[in-house]
Amino acid sequence: MKTKTTRKSPRVASKPSSKKAARKASHKSAPTALLEKQHRKVEGIFKKLESGRSDAAPLLRELADNLAAHMAIEQEIYYPAVKKIDADLVLESYEEHSLAELGLKRLLATSPKDEAFEARVTAVKELIEHHVEEEEEDLFPRVDRKLGREALAALGESMEECFAEVLEAGFRAAVPKTCEETSADVSKR
Ligand SMILES: [Fe+2]
Ligand SMILES: [Fe+2]
Repeated sequence: MKTKTTRKSPRVASKPSSKKAARKASHKSAPTALLEKQHRKVEGIFKKLESGRSDAAPLLRELADNLAAHMAIEQEIYYPAVKKIDADLVLESYEEHSLAELGLKRLLATSPKDEAFEARVTAVKELIEHHVEEEEEDLFPRVDRKLGREALAALGESMEECFAEVLEAGFRAAVPKTCEETSADVSKR
C-alpha cells in the first residue's frame, strides 16, 4: 500500500509535463522528428550493449549500421542544407561524426572479451551523447525556426529515403576503409 501511495504522486505530477512534451513534439519538423527518433534508437542499442544481457556482436552491427545511416543523412543532406544557420556548429558536427566513426571502427575490431571492450563502448557512447545534446538542444530547434515549412518537409522526405538505402548497405559500405579520412570528410568534398 505504502509503495502505491508513493508512486501515485509523481505520476499525477508528471501529467502536465507529459502533455507539454506531447505538444512540443507535435511542433517538431519532419527532419527533427526523424533524427531524434534515430537518436533514441541508438541510445536503446547502447543500453542493451552495456547491460551485457544480449550477444554483443549483432548489437554492434546494428549500432554501426544505424549510426552510419544516421550520420550519412546528416552529412550529405541535413548539414549542407542548414550550414548557413550556424557554420561553426555544423563544422564541429562533421568532426564529431569523424571521431564517432573512428571509435566505431575500433569497437568493431575489438572482441567483447577484450578488457578494453567496455571502455570503448563507453567512450563512443559519451561522445555521441554530447553530440546529440548539441543537436537537439541547439541546432534542431534553430533549424525548425529558420527554415520554411516546405523546405523542411522536402528535407525530411529525402533524408528518410537516403537513411533506408544506407542502412540496407551497412556500415562497411558507407565508410572509407582507411582511418586517414572518414565519411564526414568525403561528404564535405
Ligand atoms: Fe550528428
Ligand atoms: Fe544526429
